[in-house]
Amino acid sequence: MKRRDFFRQTAAATGLAASFPFFAGETGVQAAPVSVSPETRALREAILADLDAKRQETRLHMLPEDGQFVNLIVQLINAQQVLEIGTFHGYSSLWIAMGLEQTGGKLTTIEIDPERVKIALANLTKAGVANRVECLEGDAHQVAKTVSGPFDVALIDADKDRVDDYFQTLFPKLKPGGVILVNHVIAFKDLMQNYLDLVQKHPDLITSTVSPSMKDAFSLSFKKR
Ligand SMILES: C[S@@+](CC[C@H](N)C(=O)[O-])C[C@H]1O[C@@H](n2cnc3c(N)ncnc32)[C@H](O)[C@@H]1O
Repeated sequence: MKRRDFFRQTAAATGLAASFPFFAGETGVQAAPVSVSPETRALREAILADLDAKRQETRLHMLPEDGQFVNLIVQLINAQQVLEIGTFHGYSSLWIAMGLEQTGGKLTTIEIDPERVKIALANLTKAGVANRVECLEGDAHQVAKTVSGPFDVALIDADKDRVDDYFQTLFPKLKPGGVILVNHVIAFKDLMQNYLDLVQKHPDLITSTVSPSMKDAFSLSFKKR
């Protein structure tokens, strides 16, 4: 038996196929909801805790309560396609991907920094969710225009002063009944005021501010059906 066939058969037989995009492409993504073993759950908790411990230094990824909230939204609306702008090290991507395991969906995430893309992919692969995630490298102001959608959830968590530019690109790609989330709307309120006014007044959106952590908040806009 060829080495490649041996790995393919072993991965399929042990259920490891879903952990490796190389195999997953050939065996297909597992049907949802995925039953997650206690070992995998513990591994993911350790990855999230490790990233969270580093948040004190980097101050870049979201709080655990925010991650859990995004995971909840994905499951609540049974999201099939999620777009994230601002991957960083894959912390929020992992929360989203764990939700998508339960809905059978996929995440596209965009990050401008090549080093961060590598770290995120390593974390997502280690967590066994890389088969659900496409990580695109580049300036999301350009790259988001090339992704086709339609999306159930768009999470905007990158350059705060240009959220309205992302909105113009993403709004037409959002499904009716879909949700746009923008993080840190209290800390960066001044930078996002244009966006916040825009979504508050938009006739096709219902917008609210939600604070899972009670420390900062998301703007959550629902696209009317
Ligand atoms: C706040 S961090 C994202 C945190 C991540 N969502 C999480 O919670 O784990 C913002 C990220 O957006 C990226 N970023 C900033 N401007 C960008 C752009 N124009 N296109 C793509 N990524 C961008 C930064 O490099 C950074 O990694």
